[in-house]
Amino acid sequence: MDKYVIHGGKPLFGEVNISGAKNAAVAIIPAAILVDGVVRVENIPMIQDVIIEMEILRELGVKVRAVNPGTLEIDSRGLNRFSAVSDLNLKMRASYYLIGAFLGRFHRAEVAMPGGCNFGGVRPIDQHMKGFEALGAKMDTRGGVVYADATEGLKGANIYLDVVSVGATMNIMMAACMAEGQTVIENAAKEPHIVDLANFLNSMGADIMGAGTDVIKIRGVSKLTGGVYSTIPDQIEAGTYMAAVAAAGGSVLIKNIIPKHLDCITAKLEEMGLEMEEVDDSIRITKTGKLRRIQVKTLPYPGFPTDMQPQLGAVLCLAEGTSIITEGVWESRFRYSDELRRMGAKIQVDGKVAVIEGVEKFTGALVRASDLRAGAALVIAGLAAEGTTEVEEIAYIERGYEDLVGKLQRLGADIRRVSVPAVAIPKAN
Ligand code: EPU
Repeated sequence: MDKYVIHGGKPLFGEVNISGAKNAAVAIIPAAILVDGVVRVENIPMIQDVIIEMEILRELGVKVRAVNPGTLEIDSRGLNRFSAVSDLNLKMRASYYLIGAFLGRFHRAEVAMPGGCNFGGVRPIDQHMKGFEALGAKMDTRGGVVYADATEGLKGANIYLDVVSVGATMNIMMAACMAEGQTVIENAAKEPHIVDLANFLNSMGADIMGAGTDVIKIRGVSKLTGGVYSTIPDQIEAGTYMAAVAAAGGSVLIKNIIPKHLDCITAKLEEMGLEMEEVDDSIRITKTGKLRRIQVKTLPYPGFPTDMQPQLGAVLCLAEGTSIITEGVWESRFRYSDELRRMGAKIQVDGKVAVIEGVEKFTGALVRASDLRAGAALVIAGLAAEGTTEVEEIAYIERGYEDLVGKLQRLGADIRRVSVPAVAIPKAN
């Protein structure tokens, strides 16, 4: 069981290069099987979720290779299966994108789905199912496998999403771009990765308009052909390094970003007293004094992202006064607060609301990540803490952050990844 060991209290200085966006990459990779040709995707983060998806595609017979670090070539011309039911699927939520991709290409799909969710609560896919049904697919779920059948063809439809869902918007977009006629998705999600997937599909020959607004119009085409595409930078990875500076102090140039995508995050950090300076595709963040308390509610884009909520929560533990966080996207996402309390934080959670009373400092402790962003929050707390913090269950963190340890070390952090050999427990008599 590997872990991170952090000797905290060192401010961060220097530059950090932001990788390609995880939540765009995990949609674009399965979407590549819609293409009857060779797809080259650049700026792909080499994270565990991407590696698992590459394996899933290989199991299906798709040729996937990393032509250089960060560039994948995906050739699914030989693909003739629409069934992905291996254990690999159960390792990541984003395997649900295979339903839309298979449906678009073969008008049929069988995809094994993972169960509950790491940050507590359920992660329903009813809006994905509703969208596919509207396009003419018969949907069924048996034994943890989703079956979709549109052998009579996919037909464009008007689909109103009852909740703003990133996954449903992208999944429906994938199937609809190969349907007959026009599909309109209303109340669509507007995240930058929605626009990225639409741009990717359009560059392969799809006809999608309005991505980035809440009405997306898709005119079906009969075929997508290959090409080259480059994924957008990861707004959440960028925000995570900003939060690290806010907690640990220092001044860091966050490079290779689209500053506009970060407005929802930088606005809140500025309100807390951080200084921001935007230069082309970079932002310099500098901590100059004490952090001020804020109130924040997570919302779909362009609101404050739920995927930055735990990291901001860790920072607010060190702000003067009482801050309030309301989780507006997920049922609950505060499991990290128990661990931060072990480091001296004062957080009270009641359902979707966390009340955080600022403390002077964190003290190092042994803590455990419960999901990707919770893990990032613990690393941030560890960087700011007095003493040594050990973060366990780092596999969660490495699902979504490329070279987190290396990037932080280059900023001057004292963080190491330590391999801990599994201890054999003797059998009881
Ligand atoms: N929802 C439904 N029905 C559905 C789909 C969603 O009720 O059919 C609800 C969810 O329960 C939730 C809300 O709608 O309350 C938003 O869910 P959404 O579908 O937008 O989430 P997702 O697509 O499953 C993606 C990211 C998450 C991120 C959310 C929200 C990927 C692979 N995952 O999930 O990222 O939190 O959007 O922005 O893109 C992360 O990166 O740490 C992460 C969890």
